[in-house]
Amino acid sequence: MAKRVSPKLAGPLMPVPARWRDEVERILITDRQLAHRIYEMAGEIERDFAGHEMVVVSLLNGTVMFLGDLIRHLCLPLRLDFMGVSSYGAGTESGDLVFTKELRLDVAGRDVLLVDDILDTGKTLSRVIPKLQALRPRRMKVCVLLDKPARRVEKVSADYVGFTIPDVFVVGYGLDYAEKYRNLPFVGVLKPEMYGKTAEKPATRLVKKLKPVQ
Ligand code: IMP
Ligand code: MG
Repeated sequence: MAKRVSPKLAGPLMPVPARWRDEVERILITDRQLAHRIYEMAGEIERDFAGHEMVVVSLLNGTVMFLGDLIRHLCLPLRLDFMGVSSYGAGTESGDLVFTKELRLDVAGRDVLLVDDILDTGKTLSRVIPKLQALRPRRMKVCVLLDKPARRVEKVSADYVGFTIPDVFVVGYGLDYAEKYRNLPFVGVLKPEMYGKTAEKPATRLVKKLKPVQ
């Protein structure tokens, strides 16, 4: 059973680095909290996958940092492959999904760990999971760094969840807004005025209405 935790209040305790202060309102999950939780998750995964041929399938591009930190703690023989999935909807609302990169490795008869950055509406994983199941893996488990259950529209859940977060649009640690902010070392909440700077708007409630995470 996946251990689910909520991030502790990080914002007021951990100031946003000066470089990002104009754009980022607050830090939701610090780099230390990320590192600690990902280490724990790797332990859970290692126990569940020991003794079998493992293929890690990671969804591009949001998993870039999470994946790197997760697999360096997995002391198991594993193969790594990527699937590219893009949603071309209005703003950041999940629209029609397009596969931009297909899997290359054979997963038939193998244990698959599917890794994604965030489980939001569930539209992405509800398309990707059946596509992978059709390739007949021995079994498949789903691992996400973040889970935003308030926005779920598809019946999909993850076996390993780093942090359950409220209905806020987050950036950093691989997650983007209009392809920016993936390089932040923490998970943060953008200042509301930043959303007006591109044509896109995040498909979540306005940040200024939100209370800090407890
Ligand atoms: P879903 O299909 O709605 O579950 O959304 C999955 C994808 O939407 C994720 O892999 C992200 O790329 C993107 N996404 C959802 N919520 C956020 C967010 O708060 N920040 C950044 N990207 C997000
Ligand atoms: Mg993504």
